[in-house]
Amino acid sequence: MGDPRTLFDLTGRVACVTGASSGLGRRAAVALAAAGAQVVGVARRLEALEDLSAEIGDNCAAVAADVANRDGIAALQAAVSARFGAPDIIVHAAGVNTRQAADDVTAEGWDQTIALNLTAPFFLSQAFVPAMREKGWGRIVNFASLQTTRAFPGGIAYGATKAGIAQLTRAMAEAWSPDGITANAIGPGLFPTELTQAVFSDPDRAARNAAQTCAGRNGALQDLDGPLLFLCSEASSYVTGQVLMVDGGFTAK
Ligand SMILES: NC(=O)c1ccc[n+]([C@@H]2O[C@H](COP(=O)([O-])OP(=O)(O)OC[C@H]3O[C@@H](n4cnc5c(N)ncnc54)[C@H](OP(=O)(O)O)[C@@H]3O)[C@@H](O)[C@H]2O)c1
Repeated sequence: MGDPRTLFDLTGRVACVTGASSGLGRRAAVALAAAGAQVVGVARRLEALEDLSAEIGDNCAAVAADVANRDGIAALQAAVSARFGAPDIIVHAAGVNTRQAADDVTAEGWDQTIALNLTAPFFLSQAFVPAMREKGWGRIVNFASLQTTRAFPGGIAYGATKAGIAQLTRAMAEAWSPDGITANAIGPGLFPTELTQAVFSDPDRAARNAAQTCAGRNGALQDLDGPLLFLCSEASSYVTGQVLMVDGGFTAK
């Protein structure tokens, strides 16, 4: 057996994190860099990405792009690979929740949600897989949700994409794991980010959510570090096609 202390070491790995300008993606970029990876953060807001780069230092590069633009995938792939080479790890944290009630869902809201939450993780992964396959090693981490298996008010489009992410993850594993590439998803409970501002600005609603967990509290950003590093490192080499719920036991009750 190798040294268990090196199982989570990402020295020499290159990671691409979408949604790195905010919330869980930003936290993921910081955690991956702390574990030794060189990190490329992707999002639309360049200033927020530059702030992330300033915090991490030389091991971080910023690429401003709209990952929902399918026509831009080839250019994005080139831009992401320019600084440190092709990524070994891709974390798809960019996401949107329009919170439109079923009767009020617009075509625009629906299309935007599908394009960003479901289509982008697939086509961006597809673009990076050939380089991972060549190395015989790769890690794909998608973002699922409580809404992968639970219906929430105003979540019909979002929930459909997050249920889709679970199956996309299994299908990615079926397609790519023979080449040493694992595909898994993290399913966060409720964490305080821009995405969940509407929930956390209502203390009663946030408390109701916390009460539904086994742990009795909502998530803190650092709760995701261990599960993320597990799924991005050697530690999870025989784990693929799985959704790892990091929800304080919300879905266990
Ligand atoms: N927070 C939670 O409790 C929670 C729970 C379950 C699942 N999740 C999932 O976790 C992931 C991260 O969510 P979060 O809470 O961290 O949300 P967030 O703070 O709102 O961050 C969303 C990120 O996505 C980026 N983004 C949005 N549209 C984009 C586009 N078209 N192209 C590129 N980047 C885009 C945003 O950056 P720009 O605006 O700069 O582009 C931002 O960095 C999402 O998939 C979300 O569904 C979150």
